[in-house]
Amino acid sequence: MFVIMNSRNSSMPSTEQRDELLALRYGPQDKPENIIWNDTITALLRHRSVRFYRPDPLPDGALETIVAAAQAASNSSNLHQWSVVAVTDPALKARIAETSRANGVGNPYIEQAPVFLLWGADLSRNNAIAGADGDHAIVHEYLDSLVMSTIDASLASQNAAIAAESLGLGICYIGAMRNDARAVAELIGLPKFSFVTFGMVVGYPDADAAYRIRPRPAQEVVLHRNRYDVNRSREGLEPYEEAMSAFRAELGMTPKTWKESARSSATEMAYMDGRENLRATLEDAGFMLR
Ligand SMILES: Cc1cc2nc3c(=O)[nH]c(=O)nc-3n(C[C@H](O)[C@H](O)[C@H](O)COP(=O)(O)O)c2cc1C
Repeated sequence: MFVIMNSRNSSMPSTEQRDELLALRYGPQDKPENIIWNDTITALLRHRSVRFYRPDPLPDGALETIVAAAQAASNSSNLHQWSVVAVTDPALKARIAETSRANGVGNPYIEQAPVFLLWGADLSRNNAIAGADGDHAIVHEYLDSLVMSTIDASLASQNAAIAAESLGLGICYIGAMRNDARAVAELIGLPKFSFVTFGMVVGYPDADAAYRIRPRPAQEVVLHRNRYDVNRSREGLEPYEEAMSAFRAELGMTPKTWKESARSSATEMAYMDGRENLRATLEDAGFMLR
């Protein structure tokens, strides 16, 4: 089935495959009918997070290729305020994975996959340059410097994700790296003025596991034309429930509405899993968030 076709096979899909791809992405909701298909668009629309991996190492040159793609992303003022730490040492990976287990759930794929990339918002290099002559890096004290470096790390990482998928690898982002950001920083020897925004598991998908493209809401939910349309955006979420309930049923997940996920992730502190302490960790790392 198209859904589990290896993304290495990124030739142009047939009309039937295009329809199937859009059906998986949107379910019974309205679908965009005028997609301009090419290999890049096809590869992007095939994305799904991978949570089952083979232990095989990445092929020679894969890490460098992925990082070259990351470096090719636009970055704020060409200041290069991000870094990535590639963790391959199994013992270290296990200790880092442990930090994400605040509620006992964890992300076992961190240990399964051969490489775990830790993406950092990183002002440390430029902060040292600024301070070398005794100058005060006042700009780094403002919240925007954290936002800027976090944006740049995110853009770089998403380029890396696309590159990895184009090589037939799978990825899964791990926001749970912020559950105990202080411990993660210590484990990888992070300097001040940097912090791990999220991790990314990279490896070969286990071919025996089930993968399913996760549906997105219809475009009217996220696409506004000229002015934000609150009603259209919210009403458009109704038909999304059907797509998500079919997705959950197919993967054997307990039934739950998407709205319930949205509600509980906003109202229950358990969702934070330790991330409520992030401000203190950031301040200790030198970010003043003015
Ligand atoms: C910044 C970020 C953090 C994420 N953190 C986690 C995580 O800690 N554990 C996990 O299993 N998935 C994590 N994900 C994956 C999302 O759950 C996933 O992207 C989303 O459900 C959509 O599914 P898809 O990627 O298969 O399309 C994260 C994704 C992003 C972008």
